[in-house]
Amino acid sequence: MKTQVVIIGGGPSGLLLGQLLHTRGIKTVVLERKTKDYVLGRIRAGVLEQGLVRLMEQAGCAERLHAEGFPHDGTLISYGDEMFRVDFTEHVGTPVMVYGQTEVTRDLYAAREAADAPIVYNVDDVVIHDADGDAPFVTYAVDGVPARIECAFIAGCDGFHGVSRKTIPESVRQEYEKVYPFGWLGVLSETPPVNHELIYANSPRGFALCSMRNAQLSRYYIQCSLDDHVDNWSDDAFWEELKRRIPADQADALVTGPCIEKSIAPLRSFVTEPMRWGRLFLCGDAAHIVPPTGAKGLNTAASDVHYLFEGLSEFYAKGSSDGIDTYSEKALARVWKAERFSWWFTSMMHRFPDQTPFDLKMQVADLEFLRDSVSAQKAMAENYVGLPY
Ligand code: FAD
Ligand code: DHB
Repeated sequence: MKTQVVIIGGGPSGLLLGQLLHTRGIKTVVLERKTKDYVLGRIRAGVLEQGLVRLMEQAGCAERLHAEGFPHDGTLISYGDEMFRVDFTEHVGTPVMVYGQTEVTRDLYAAREAADAPIVYNVDDVVIHDADGDAPFVTYAVDGVPARIECAFIAGCDGFHGVSRKTIPESVRQEYEKVYPFGWLGVLSETPPVNHELIYANSPRGFALCSMRNAQLSRYYIQCSLDDHVDNWSDDAFWEELKRRIPADQADALVTGPCIEKSIAPLRSFVTEPMRWGRLFLCGDAAHIVPPTGAKGLNTAASDVHYLFEGLSEFYAKGSSDGIDTYSEKALARVWKAERFSWWFTSMMHRFPDQTPFDLKMQVADLEFLRDSVSAQKAMAENYVGLPY
């Protein structure tokens, strides 16, 4: 087989890149390790920046997003029983869109299928060859049958545990990492959201987040310890703990019900540099991870896709390699700012095992500064809705 761009990974980064390239007539093959149902079964991000909404429009995949997504003009932040609001539209003129990653992925799969563009599921043993030369190729196997694709470029969109990042020699690769001493236990429940806006809660018992997917589907998270397990949490235990972490009036209004999904995710900040090695480009979680506070993971993957799409389009339309040569630098400049925001928001909202009374006072001062200062709210809004690209 031969194509122009091999895309490793059929998550949101790979599918969005594939669809955007398709609009310019650039041929791609997507290789996905799992099945489509498996990918669609993963409950992940829920808040989209305008940049991602625009990319979905550009890819011709935004119809359902506009019909079923919910624009949010602001968010609520609580500490103890105090709650205040940061108004994004007032401060920076832009809302965010509540629309699940699952739905984004579903729309992108539908578009890829409608375009009859190739996607190979259940691939094993993916190996990238000669990425630093002029004639790279990718080998893999499906059900034990080996295959090979020759290409001009490879997009490594295969997430944190993929093969693409590890293909870049260690002598070239610089990794930066911070692991947080806690995780998030998340549940999905077919209940109306407790509030029409998200609530990020700092409480003496740890962080909580009240989010949603639609008017009848809520997503809630609580900070948990790293050695915790979903089996330790009955539905009742989860709801009781959530209620203790949000303001009393919100706890009173909380509608509880059976949890249809429950999972624990560890929190990590991670960046690898550079994001390009020869003809291989890393995109999304393959290159960087943020702790989820602030919903930057999927959105930062989207800005990478934008820069790579621009670079590859320019290469095929004008024969210029300027865009691909500056990809890593441009993507990383924005990635680090999303890393900073997610680290700051995580630090302000969670209980850390080694937190001193001084550290706690700093958190409250940070929260009260945000509550009282228009410029602090503006800075938060600017980051939350997404820095420009
Ligand atoms: P992924 O979604 O990881 O997709 C990579 C794809 O590559 C996968 O489908 C995988 O199966 C495939 N793959 C892996 N290895 C190979 C291989 N060798 N060959 C072929 N295919 C391969 N962000 C938020 O903003 N809010 C959240 O609440 C949130 N929750 C999260 C919960 C979890 C458990 C995780 C892991 C992430 C969460 N994120 C969240 C982050 C967000 O979901 C990611 O940033 C986003 O999925 C990145 O998309 P991606 O396409 O780059 O990577
Ligand atoms: C969601 C996740 C987040 O990490 C966040 O900051 C906001 C919303 C969610 O899954 O809905």
